[in-house]
Amino acid sequence: MDTKLFFGDATAFETPMLAVFAVDLAEGKDAEPRPTLLNAASALQSAAAAVLGSGEFKAALGEVAVLHAPAGLKAERLLLVGLGKAKDLSLDKVRKGAGAAVRAAKTRSVRSMAIEFPAVEFYPMLTARVLVEGAEFAQLDWDTYRSDRKDCSVDSLTLIANQTDAADATQRGFDEGLIVAAAQNFARSLVNEPGNVLTPTVLGARAKAMCDEAGLKCEVYSSDKVQELKMEAFWAVAKGSAEPPALIVMTYEPTIAPAADAPVFGLVGKGITFDTGGISIKPADGMEKMKYDMAGAAAMIGAMYAIARLKPAVKVIGVVCSAENMPDGKAFKPGDVVTAMSGKTIEIVNTDAEGRLVLADGLHYAKTLGCTHLINAATLTGACVVALGTINAGLFSNDDATCAKFEGALNVSGEKFWRLPCTDDYSDHIKSEIADMMNTGKNRYGGAISAAMFLKEFVGDTPWVHLDIAGCAWNEEKKPWHAYGPSGIAVRSILEWVRSYSA
Ligand code: BES
Ligand code: MN
Ligand code: ZN
Repeated sequence: MDTKLFFGDATAFETPMLAVFAVDLAEGKDAEPRPTLLNAASALQSAAAAVLGSGEFKAALGEVAVLHAPAGLKAERLLLVGLGKAKDLSLDKVRKGAGAAVRAAKTRSVRSMAIEFPAVEFYPMLTARVLVEGAEFAQLDWDTYRSDRKDCSVDSLTLIANQTDAADATQRGFDEGLIVAAAQNFARSLVNEPGNVLTPTVLGARAKAMCDEAGLKCEVYSSDKVQELKMEAFWAVAKGSAEPPALIVMTYEPTIAPAADAPVFGLVGKGITFDTGGISIKPADGMEKMKYDMAGAAAMIGAMYAIARLKPAVKVIGVVCSAENMPDGKAFKPGDVVTAMSGKTIEIVNTDAEGRLVLADGLHYAKTLGCTHLINAATLTGACVVALGTINAGLFSNDDATCAKFEGALNVSGEKFWRLPCTDDYSDHIKSEIADMMNTGKNRYGGAISAAMFLKEFVGDTPWVHLDIAGCAWNEEKKPWHAYGPSGIAVRSILEWVRSYSA
């Protein structure tokens, strides 16, 4: 999509479709809807007056109405897009509204459109940014592998801003939004790939190609290096597959060298390109979904892209541990004991708890590379989905200040994470009679916490944030602002978290 920013008068703009936003002024739960445009231009107001007064359009979030040949406008169609109740308006709803506008044009085979900036109180920079993010995000459908796919993409989008006084900030927000959306869409495209296409080796190659383009240093290692580094936990998972693992290390150095005691951020991703469960094999039902078990890795690769482009003043290292979890004559087995890179021993109780094993070595390795702050993302546990459903992803941390920084980043990212505990009173969950710990909880209770407690063993005192994105990495349901398929969750939040440390 060719996306442009234009400063000027929307009513005089020639386009096949002009989208404008509306909110519902009604306050009470049962109050009659009072849809109102978020634009003051009288030509727009009068063009929309009849439909706004008709009761047909209630300005609910994502709701749209199309008017053809609107009087007084140069546009061929006027698209009204609802943002929900006025009192609940948020930046994320503006983001979703922009998405709904693009998807409404897409389903109507409109190839070229414009969206007028809503008159809202948010910083112009953030308003511009979320409009681009929402539009670029919504443009994609995951029909790459369908021969009957209808190519009905929107080719050209113009965002029309009128606050000429904030032109610089608006332009900056627009430019940032393009980068963030590209990062997120890149992550989504990786998650969408089936396991036969996206093996650990291919994930490594895609990460390397991105790094080359974005100007990041990138090393992609395989079996030899994993064994040489004594990553026995990672190797235990990898060795049952005919596909070799990939250890991907992406490094971003800021232009001005930071002080010696400046923080270094480690972004560690779970990159299981397919999770059969291994010898503790999963039931057949729904197993096809386990191609998305590399969504944490994809989030880190996407975030590294955005970091390379937005250039925060802090050093960031991305570490991805990628493998395929397969049952095989060479596969690891329940009862095996492995020594992780950190030297801690692990009794394998269930080979389906493989994510925490690869992350254990990834997190420890990131520390040896000099990382002072760690974040990991992983489709780690079904238990997290049971606990939080698919609206909030799980958030765990061993450090309140670091966690607060992350939660602050959510105001910009609009993503939802809910903190769960991983305090030491849970450490009995993973106690083993045989080794330093076992790789599952002793029962099913608090399974997401058991997994977090396991990871915590490998981060030590380093401030750390753990994101369990199992329930939020794949959209089972379509929404007016997004397609079925990969969500790209965590890219935006991780990026903003890193940037919050950049002076
Ligand atoms: N990749 C799965 C977790 C998962 C489940 C992601 C559902 C997305 C949707 C992970 O490797 C796994 O299998 N976890 C087990 C852990 C258990 C064996 C302790 C689980 O959640 O059942
Ligand atoms: Mn598993
Ligand atoms: Zn898994």
